[in-house]
Amino acid sequence: MTDVYDIELEHVTKQFGDFVAVKDMNLTIKKGEFFSLLGPSGCGKTTTLRMVAGFEQPSEGEIYLSNAPVAGVPPYKRNVNTVFQNYALFPHLSVWENVAFGLKRKKVEKNEIKQRVGEALEMVEMLPMKERKPSQLSGGQQQRVALARALVNRPTVLLLDEPLGALDAKLRKAMQLELKKLQSDVGITFIYVTHDQEEALTMSDRLAVMSQGLVEQVGLPADIYENPESAFVANFIGVSNIYMADVVSRSGDDAVCKTDKGLGVKCHVRGHEIVAGDKVGVVIRPEKLSIVPVENAAEIADRQNIYEATIKAVVYIGSVTQFIVDIEGKHLAQVLLQNLFHNDRQEWHQEQKVKVGFWDDSSSLITDVERGMAEKDLMGEVVKRAQ
Ligand SMILES: Nc1ncnc2c1ncn2[C@@H]1O[C@H](COP(=O)(O)OP(=O)(O)OP(=O)(O)O)[C@@H](O)[C@H]1O
Ligand SMILES: [Mg+2]
Repeated sequence: MTDVYDIELEHVTKQFGDFVAVKDMNLTIKKGEFFSLLGPSGCGKTTTLRMVAGFEQPSEGEIYLSNAPVAGVPPYKRNVNTVFQNYALFPHLSVWENVAFGLKRKKVEKNEIKQRVGEALEMVEMLPMKERKPSQLSGGQQQRVALARALVNRPTVLLLDEPLGALDAKLRKAMQLELKKLQSDVGITFIYVTHDQEEALTMSDRLAVMSQGLVEQVGLPADIYENPESAFVANFIGVSNIYMADVVSRSGDDAVCKTDKGLGVKCHVRGHEIVAGDKVGVVIRPEKLSIVPVENAAEIADRQNIYEATIKAVVYIGSVTQFIVDIEGKHLAQVLLQNLFHNDRQEWHQEQKVKVGFWDDSSSLITDVERGMAEKDLMGEVVKRAQ
């Protein structure tokens, strides 16, 4: 069986005058998939959604919904509904009337309206508040009404543009779980826009990371985190230690690299077609680095990469301790150490001599080193975040 794609974007470009907001975008989103668009402000997320919904036309390329091209099809004729960031509820209408509004306008039969509105409100657990006006609801409750208003149309695709952006952290977490459950219960295809990386990683089946109108990488959450393909993705999704390096030698799946500051690194090639002389970026996530006082070096003796380092900053964060270390006077690195034992805080201190190490297959490689930022900027950012 061939895959069923609910949504396909083929070489889609959107220009506003001279400005290119979305560049040559190719995406396929499967039926029933929870797909997220993740990226910083202005990278083209909303513009992409608006093109899928039909509020904007691509300047170039083609969009397909259920395998049919939709160029020229107006929004109300696409089986797609959008939940906007600001909810856009009608303030003078009750919860019930807000949800019924679209169906009434489509002249759906009265009994059917009653049944469908009831079902939609029940789904988001807002039936008991059906008589209230939006001003009498909390942010999260308004959000749920906005969802019910989209669900009542029984769309095959739901587009959600930062739907939880206005909620406080706790409510946001609760709504994330509710939304995810709703999506898997109802089986609707979701395109979910967010600039919150944790939200995208925890909720999505797959996600696309965007930057300046370009899709940087598409993949499963774990793939995006473990194998970022560009410095941008490595740094936007979590924190990364990235070092520019030359490949010195390669043997099977093992490679030896030397960083631009002369640090030797043994790593796994991870399917990259690299040969000696290639330029790569070596990416090591902070939690993949181990740290021990010099006298306990034996504890990490099985790592293929072991270095002498000096602690430059140490921050106790409860579940973990975060370090900035200077590796052999060559590179700064961030290290996260899980606090495993009760009240067993090591007496870590600044300028302490330590050993840091990691297994060769705990790192990943970026081969497209032209794309992305300089190491200096990245480490500056890491140090800033740690302070
Ligand atoms: N109608 C328009 N005319 C001109 N430029 C536009 C228009 N709509 C969007 N843009 C520009 O296109 C770029 C992408 O905008 P878009 O709204 O898609 O970003 P976004 O990723 O949704 O950002 P945010 O996270 O801030 O919502 C921005 O630089 C924006 O200024
Ligand atoms: Mg937006």
